[in-house]
Amino acid sequence: MIKAGIIGCGTIGGVIADAILHRFSGSIELSGLCDIDEEKVRKLQAGLGVKRDALTRKGLIEKCDLIIEAASGAVSYEIAKEALSAGKDVMIMSTGGLLGRGDILELAKGKGAKIYLPSGAICGLDGVKSAMMAGVESVTLTTRKPPAGLRGAPYIIENNIDLDGIKKETVIFEGTAEEAVKGFPKNVNVSATLSLCGLGAGKTKIRIVTSPDYKSNSHEVQLKGDFGKLRAVTENVPMPDNPKTSYLAALSAVATLKNIVTSAIIGN
Ligand SMILES: NC(=O)c1ccc[n+]([C@@H]2O[C@H](COP(=O)([O-])OP(=O)(O)OC[C@H]3O[C@@H](n4cnc5c(N)ncnc54)[C@H](O)[C@@H]3O)[C@@H](O)[C@H]2O)c1
Repeated sequence: MIKAGIIGCGTIGGVIADAILHRFSGSIELSGLCDIDEEKVRKLQAGLGVKRDALTRKGLIEKCDLIIEAASGAVSYEIAKEALSAGKDVMIMSTGGLLGRGDILELAKGKGAKIYLPSGAICGLDGVKSAMMAGVESVTLTTRKPPAGLRGAPYIIENNIDLDGIKKETVIFEGTAEEAVKGFPKNVNVSATLSLCGLGAGKTKIRIVTSPDYKSNSHEVQLKGDFGKLRAVTENVPMPDNPKTSYLAALSAVATLKNIVTSAIIGN
């Protein structure tokens, strides 16, 4: 039995906890929950209908074999570092916090521990990884969001972009993933995961497009390489209780757990 602990008991943490209890109960035990907001732990415990220990981050890392982060990009690197230093495997949802922190790969290798980064709200990463085994010329992520989904982003504010004045499909931003994560922090995880799989944040190109006609968020990965061309698009449904998070992102965490318990990675 793998003893798993969840840090961050919000939307994704809740989906993961439910999957552990109901899909993977023969292989994974939910051994601890942790959240900076105690009410979130209580709510999750009540929703699951079972008592699971509320632990501190340190206590959870000590007790569990697999540490699952579904909390925040502000702490995901620290959580990964603490877990890996203790020789524990770690699954990170807030991949944006790992950008430019390649040291944890060395740490994992040195400790013989594993880092799992679910594909999140995008698809096509299997093809990106395969393509990277030969030459890759370019990797581009085009994110399409309704104007309301971009409101408040630092890039929009700094450039005085009038979102209400946009009447047709408009490219709002083009730049590297490194630049995009500063200007559009809400896009940070998809940009980071793609960068980590492919050419890195300095070479991965990001385009942000909006239109009053868009009704949902979509992400399109495009890649050109020695093998040919790849184009993979998701049109995401938001989680009902948290419109910032796509349902596919939560499902990708559950699929990663399935890879772990079946010890088989099909589709790389
Ligand atoms: N990889 C992807 O494509 C992808 C997609 C969606 C969301 N995410 C990321 O996954 C994370 C979880 O998303 P969510 O929708 O469940 O968010 P959420 O806001 O519903 O839940 C986050 C929970 O973490 C808790 N938390 C915050 N900081 C913490 C800390 N330092 N220690 C312990 N708990 C802490 C919060 O109190 C909250 O309960 C977010 O960082 C989000 O950006 C990644």
